[in-house]
Amino acid sequence: MNKKAIITSALPYANGEIHLGHVASTYLPADVTTRFLKQNGVEAYYFCASDDFGTPILIQSEKERKTPAEYVEHWNKRDYEDFSSFDIDFDYFYKTSSPENIEFVQDVFKKLNAAGHIYEKEIIQFYCNNDKKFLPDRYVKGQCPYCDAEDQYSDLCERCGRVPEEIKNPVCSICGQTPTKEKTTHYFFKLKNFGDSLTKWLDENEHLQKDVKKYVQNWIKSGLIDWDITRDISWGVKIPLDDAHDKVFYGWFDNHLAYISTALKFFSDKGIDGKEFWNSSDIYHFIGKDIVYHHYLFLPAMRLGINSEYKLPDYIPTRGHLTLQSKKISKSRNWYIGLKEFLEYYPADYLRFYLVSINPYSQDDLNFDWDDFTTRINSELIGNLGNFVNRALGFTKKVFDGKVPQSESFDEKDSEIEIKIKNLASDIGSLMNENNLDRALKKILEFSSYLNQYFQHKEPWKNGPGTTNCVYLSVNAVRSIAIAIFPFMPKSAQKIWQQLGLDGNVSDSLWNEMSELRISTGHTLGDPSPLFDRVETSDIEKYKKHLGYSG
Ligand code: 2FM
Ligand code: ZN
Repeated sequence: MNKKAIITSALPYANGEIHLGHVASTYLPADVTTRFLKQNGVEAYYFCASDDFGTPILIQSEKERKTPAEYVEHWNKRDYEDFSSFDIDFDYFYKTSSPENIEFVQDVFKKLNAAGHIYEKEIIQFYCNNDKKFLPDRYVKGQCPYCDAEDQYSDLCERCGRVPEEIKNPVCSICGQTPTKEKTTHYFFKLKNFGDSLTKWLDENEHLQKDVKKYVQNWIKSGLIDWDITRDISWGVKIPLDDAHDKVFYGWFDNHLAYISTALKFFSDKGIDGKEFWNSSDIYHFIGKDIVYHHYLFLPAMRLGINSEYKLPDYIPTRGHLTLQSKKISKSRNWYIGLKEFLEYYPADYLRFYLVSINPYSQDDLNFDWDDFTTRINSELIGNLGNFVNRALGFTKKVFDGKVPQSESFDEKDSEIEIKIKNLASDIGSLMNENNLDRALKKILEFSSYLNQYFQHKEPWKNGPGTTNCVYLSVNAVRSIAIAIFPFMPKSAQKIWQQLGLDGNVSDSLWNEMSELRISTGHTLGDPSPLFDRVETSDIEKYKKHLGYSG
């Protein structure tokens, strides 16, 4: 394992609240991974930023009669607050509209231009004579040329999912008038130049998911097309050329560069050489499957275009989309659950537990289902894990006054438990290293279920032979559980730590220490109490109604 790592997750548009779909596929898996790497002694940093530019943001800020800068500032703060209350622990959360990112983007463009990867081309764009504006992307609505759906934006048909080459019956989305077509000069990035070097990178990188890699390789084989990186709008990173003063970069040119510029800003504030750190780290970019094209082609091609001055990603963990009660999440149809709202009902750890449990390391979609949520929390988290912790600690408190008793020589069952504890760190760790977070969590549940059976089998309440071994091993297993669940449920892990009466924080322990029996005879526990409250079906029905759907 490399001793340094930089982790990023797809930057949220500063354009609306964070919902469960966002956190499930990117922010939570990235946070769990970062915590795990830190527990392994890796100097790991988790960076993110709000994605501030682009036409949808400009249009929305105009509707709300705010300047785009005010508008994105609001969402930058709100997003950060929501993430924090979900215990997404960024080392730094910045913004694509930061002066550092703007300067960095312009600098990268100049280097790409000097290396011959940029060219100018005159193109025809819709123009609104009424608003005196060019109308890129969402500024034009019309009928999809493929499926005939009405009222679609010119950059994406929401019904058939395709990007129309030219929308039919176009109207300006601000004033509704029919636009004209005007000539304008745009800058293009020669993506075509990078087919071979991208193929080489894909072939050589053994950490990328095989299935994703395969279809990206097919895209390359079927021919790359050069990429229009220009927008004729006012809100964006200005193109640093004399005859382009009224043009800005397309948001996807600048946003991923904020992964680097945010890292550089963080390190320079600390007096560390950020470039050196970046290039000697493992680089992880966590994304959802809708932005594979951008992260497997544009992003690496741009880095290759500046001679890999900043190394390319080692990992691009890509996951599917969350559906809600088996239906696609849609903010406009109010079919979504805001993160903030959810956390008013249940603690962050319930949601973290549930979303990791249902989220495989693949591009398959995952489904949030209220009934499944209830069952998993009540039977797996509480009935299994919470029950064992409370049982082991409660019993020790009651019968031994909270003092861990002297153990005797182990019988076969005790030795099995000892071996389980000793193997736990590597059993779960190997799954974590492969990004199989859901399977790692399942392994922890298997461990606690096994311990529950052991406790039941030993019947320590009868105070027969072997009782003290059962208590000694169970209390140590509870400590192992605290360290193991820390990346997934940091608050609950810390609660267990306190109930165990251990000093410091659970986060101070290294991952492998979960496999040591560090709690010795004579140690005094803290005060045990149940870790979790059950999810009541009647509450769930209430929340379903409150959120505007019947389930
Ligand atoms: O698709 C999105 O939500 C984009 N805001 C993600 C940007 S990730 C990046 F910066 F590369
Ligand atoms: Zn108009």
